[in-house]
Amino acid sequence: MAGTPPKDRIRDLRDAIRHHEERYYIHNAPEISDEQFDRLLHELERIEAEHPELVTGDSPTQRVAGRPVEGFATVEHRTQMLSLDNTYSDDELRAFDERVRKGAGVGGDPIAYVAEIKIDGLSIALTYDEGRLVRGATRGDGVRGEDVTANVRTIRAIPLALRSGPPGPIEVRGEVYLSRASFTRMNREREESGEPLFANPRNAAAGTMRNLAPALVASRGLSAFVYQLVGDGARAMPPTHSDALAAMQSWGLPVEPHWQRLDGIDKVVAFCRSWAEKRRTLEFGTDGVVIKVDDLALRERLGATAKCPRWATAFKFPPEQAHTKLLRIDVNVGRTGANTPYAVLDPVLLAGSTISMATLHNAEDIARKDLREGDTVVIEKGGDVIPKVVAPVLSLRPPDSKPWEMPTTCKACASTLTREDDEVIWRCVNESCPAKLRRGLLHFAGRTAMNIEGLGESLVEQLVEKAIVGDYADLYRLTEATLARLDRMAEKSASNLVAEIEKSKTSDLSRLIYALGIRHVGEKAAATLARHFRTMQGVLKAPIEALQSVREVGPVVARSVRMFADEPRNRRLIDRLEKAGVNMTTSLPKPAEEPGPLAGKTFVLTGTLSAMTREQAIEAIERLGARVTGSVTKKTSYVVAGAEAGSKLEKARQLGIETLDEAALRALIIKQHA
Ligand code: IVH
Repeated sequence: MAGTPPKDRIRDLRDAIRHHEERYYIHNAPEISDEQFDRLLHELERIEAEHPELVTGDSPTQRVAGRPVEGFATVEHRTQMLSLDNTYSDDELRAFDERVRKGAGVGGDPIAYVAEIKIDGLSIALTYDEGRLVRGATRGDGVRGEDVTANVRTIRAIPLALRSGPPGPIEVRGEVYLSRASFTRMNREREESGEPLFANPRNAAAGTMRNLAPALVASRGLSAFVYQLVGDGARAMPPTHSDALAAMQSWGLPVEPHWQRLDGIDKVVAFCRSWAEKRRTLEFGTDGVVIKVDDLALRERLGATAKCPRWATAFKFPPEQAHTKLLRIDVNVGRTGANTPYAVLDPVLLAGSTISMATLHNAEDIARKDLREGDTVVIEKGGDVIPKVVAPVLSLRPPDSKPWEMPTTCKACASTLTREDDEVIWRCVNESCPAKLRRGLLHFAGRTAMNIEGLGESLVEQLVEKAIVGDYADLYRLTEATLARLDRMAEKSASNLVAEIEKSKTSDLSRLIYALGIRHVGEKAAATLARHFRTMQGVLKAPIEALQSVREVGPVVARSVRMFADEPRNRRLIDRLEKAGVNMTTSLPKPAEEPGPLAGKTFVLTGTLSAMTREQAIEAIERLGARVTGSVTKKTSYVVAGAEAGSKLEKARQLGIETLDEAALRALIIKQHA
């Protein structure tokens, strides 16, 4: 605009951009095209570039700061971020209402509630000061969370500056979530790159929020809703929650629009019923309805228990179910030779996706449920993506149906299956079983094993089928010429893969031990063995007593390693890997010889750590001589609670066990090392 002072034009552009962000990201009703929007943003970028003195932190050009965050700082919440009690039925909802009415002393009068959609995401606390977003924090353990401001700033539904609102600092709480479309897209991408899938949108949102690169977070399409205005005692609050929701909405904050103020529990029950039906129409995952007392003064009177307010409850939707035909029960062969039955179903739409297969766990489970081929079955999907077969519909069972019998031979190679006494899984013990080899190769090449990128399923299938690869060592003989002859293998991918395979030779011994897929030897046990024995020969030669004497190596792992090492075929494999140039040593630190300063102590880790990985934390704790175990008991010395810590933290509190947050753990490690 010729003649308009840059300062004014910048202000107008920012207002317009925020208006259109709200239309797009909050109301889902854009007024202009993406191209027109981009033009506004580019104009703003251009003017700001010419007038850097006019750039402020709340400008829409400043959402992605660009630099990666160095771990997340711990922040203390102003008031505890509580959780919610769950209810699962109309009766439980009515019992909740009874308790509220008793607490309120209102006799038969109906209580005014607000019912909101329960968003399946990750809770977040946002602080605005002078109308500007100054902090975003995760819930953490409710008392302390993580400062994720840089990531929160990338979420376009969250305003960097409020349109209007109180001048002083305010805190609002809500939920960061991934839309179902973004979730599906993210999992599709992960599938293509061979990464494990997120089980549900909640996990995906949490995983994304914990990413240290804001630019990446920005690309994932997170969104947010707010549902709570936090009072600080200093300023007058609206008298009711519905007023607070309306106020937050008028300030430009994203409030989920389907909330309703309802008088009496009957209307609440009807609301819950209706949303259990309609939940699929929402663009985000939901697992229920949150019911809250509307009157804030009454909330005060009702108070809270240690974890949950007495004035609210979450009604959880029943898992979605469908009926379909169980066409046949088939068997899948895993890396360890496990022959696992699964259901082949007549494809049916359930909870938004078409289901044609479901796991059946094991033969005993099938017998217990008496599932038969040809049955009509009830299938169910809870919050997770993996569907379950619940039960047969006996009234629809065909008269000639027979109980299903587990095959006695391997689905892939027809060898006789065996089963250990205390196990329910039937296994193929044929070392040349092609299905085991295929799965084994995928495991060997996996990201946390030898990390050979590009060795995917279709390639492995061809390599095994064409007998080009008969064991892991054969991978190291692959040439570009051999690979280029395979289907769907371009020259470039062939040379990339050869380079990846070459690179994998330098992997640490701990990765190699894990990659071999020795039963019961996971990543942790592999690292322990590598650290203790230093070389592959050291591990292979160790007598069972020596293996067992290593702390953290139990009799099951020791026996399994010994059995692996005693098998001449495995020895030959290791020889060939060594001859191919695969590294057989470790650079991990030696375990401390002296009893460490924390010897005798046991730690339990729960929740997610930010500045270090779980493995790094375990390594650091063990290096000090302490043990890390899985469950909290009276003997636990410390519970380390990361973000989103759950029942273990609760248990620690009940047992009066000292809890450490991540910062305290780091301080302890540094102190003990000093
Ligand atoms: S109110 C003290 N409202 O559900 C009450 N929570 O299962 C604070 N959630 O931790 C929560 N949608 O992360 C509230 N409309 C909503 C919600 C909601 C999702 C989450 C929230 C809470 C969890 C409890």
